[in-house]
Amino acid sequence: MQEGARLPAVQCASYSTCIESNLLHNLIRKNPGRLPVRVSALKKPDKKQRVKDRGDESQSIKKIVEYIQCKLSFTLPTISKNLVGIDSRLKVLNEYIDEQANDTLFIGICGMGGMGKTTVARVLYDRIRWQFGGSCFLANVREVFAEKDGLCRLQEQLLSEISMELPTARDSSRRIDLIKRRLRLKKVLLILDDVDDEEQLQMLAAEHGTFGPGSRIIITSRNKHVLDSHGVTRIYEAEKLNDKDALILFSWKAFKRDQPAEDLSELSKQVVGYANGLPLALEVIGSFLHKRGLREWKSAIDRMNDIPDRKIIDVLRISFDGLHELEKKIFLDIACFLKGMKKDRITRLLDSCGFHADIGMQALIEKSLIRVSRDEIRMHNLLQKMGEEIVRCESPEEPGRRSRLCTYKDVCDALKDSTGKIESIFVDLPKAKEAPWNMTAFSKMTKLRLLKIHNVDLSEGPEYLSNELRFLEWHAYPSKSLPACYRLDELVELYMSCSSIEQLWCGCKYIPELVANTTL
Ligand SMILES: Nc1ncnc2c1ncn2[C@@H]1O[C@H](COP(=O)(O)OP(=O)(O)O)[C@@H](O)[C@H]1O
Ligand SMILES: [Mg+2]
Repeated sequence: MQEGARLPAVQCASYSTCIESNLLHNLIRKNPGRLPVRVSALKKPDKKQRVKDRGDESQSIKKIVEYIQCKLSFTLPTISKNLVGIDSRLKVLNEYIDEQANDTLFIGICGMGGMGKTTVARVLYDRIRWQFGGSCFLANVREVFAEKDGLCRLQEQLLSEISMELPTARDSSRRIDLIKRRLRLKKVLLILDDVDDEEQLQMLAAEHGTFGPGSRIIITSRNKHVLDSHGVTRIYEAEKLNDKDALILFSWKAFKRDQPAEDLSELSKQVVGYANGLPLALEVIGSFLHKRGLREWKSAIDRMNDIPDRKIIDVLRISFDGLHELEKKIFLDIACFLKGMKKDRITRLLDSCGFHADIGMQALIEKSLIRVSRDEIRMHNLLQKMGEEIVRCESPEEPGRRSRLCTYKDVCDALKDSTGKIESIFVDLPKAKEAPWNMTAFSKMTKLRLLKIHNVDLSEGPEYLSNELRFLEWHAYPSKSLPACYRLDELVELYMSCSSIEQLWCGCKYIPELVANTTL
């Protein structure tokens, strides 16, 4: 906490007696430096002093304890790993934040994917949020916005976290009005992470008048133009790590300490050169080389030497190529279909495909290719793009010959001329769209394991569905029942909301793997 910073009123209260004051002292003892109260202002309670009934004082102390617990949860850092070069980044940002200014300030952080924009925004948020009347970190705005009801969820999160209220308004413009009314007088800290479209800013942080005096709105984006067109003038361009910090980050990953092993010091410097100061690449390559022998180090460097223009995706790909076959499959399934789902759920689905998901996912975590956040599996956008690119390269011209499809256009093309290679199809459109799909193409897809179709208007369903299906989610399925020949033996999850289904199937079916909470 900064010297002389404004502390909450809690510091003035007296805490000489009663159980809560003990609790308070315990909280402070266990969390040195994290509490937004001045510890010196608190007297240690006299152990011998008997707890008297102090009526109002007891009540108010109870409130203070609750307040501090709430603040404490705010101040617990959400990033706990070894960060490097963060102070120099924060120094520039702090100048833009300009604590003294009473206006509402919009601040942008821009730079390419993997440069550390989200990380620095998160650290800044953790450090300064206690200074505001309300705060909210809206993560992955681009991704959530593209999902069904995504805007609604983002607006709800904004309102509920800052004003502790759940909006009742149904349409987005009413919710914008509500946000304005509730936040107009509040000093707010809002982070909008990974914005890629002006519309997202209009819907979440439209005008300067939306927030109270002294508010700070921080927007991270890969696209500087989006920030410019929203009138954001204070823009921090996330810089690459300098050589010294880059080597430290790489060493944490490759050697689990802050400098390279002596015999690999020169090679480490070479590898760091290829990562070009990009934190994501340093993490991924460092993790890839962890515990590998000299020969593997040299061969990785040879490969990097051969990459034209040092395209970062190709550098990252070296890590993918070093995976075992099943780990590759798991990586691609996550990139093209499962990203964002709960870890247990992914494990169950992938295990049912025979992929030994526990071991495989652990290997991907160790190699920094995926991470677990709030029990969900997350993958950096650049790595997801790499996964999609790997699949695209399986057959650049003919989507029907690829293993996984995850864009509407590719599915349309693949259905014209599909082969039996397709293992997963993921189509989740933000708005309903009529599709002239040739449904007979499904009869060739004998390997299809994962299928999600959302917001696609079809006149009829398929006559065949693969018996390999583990996951079937088909919103507004157009037919009255599932194909008669479909056996469902392997099915683990089934979601058919808003479908035209009258009877799922005739007779009895034995579906041993289907989990209980599946909805129809
Ligand atoms: N200063 C840093 N020190 C250590 N690791 C970092 C740092 N900045 C970013 N990273 C790591 O690099 C990866 C990409 O960072 P991220 O903030 O997601 O980038 P961006 O938001 O720009 O795409 C993350 O795994 C993050 O932990
Ligand atoms: Mg990011």
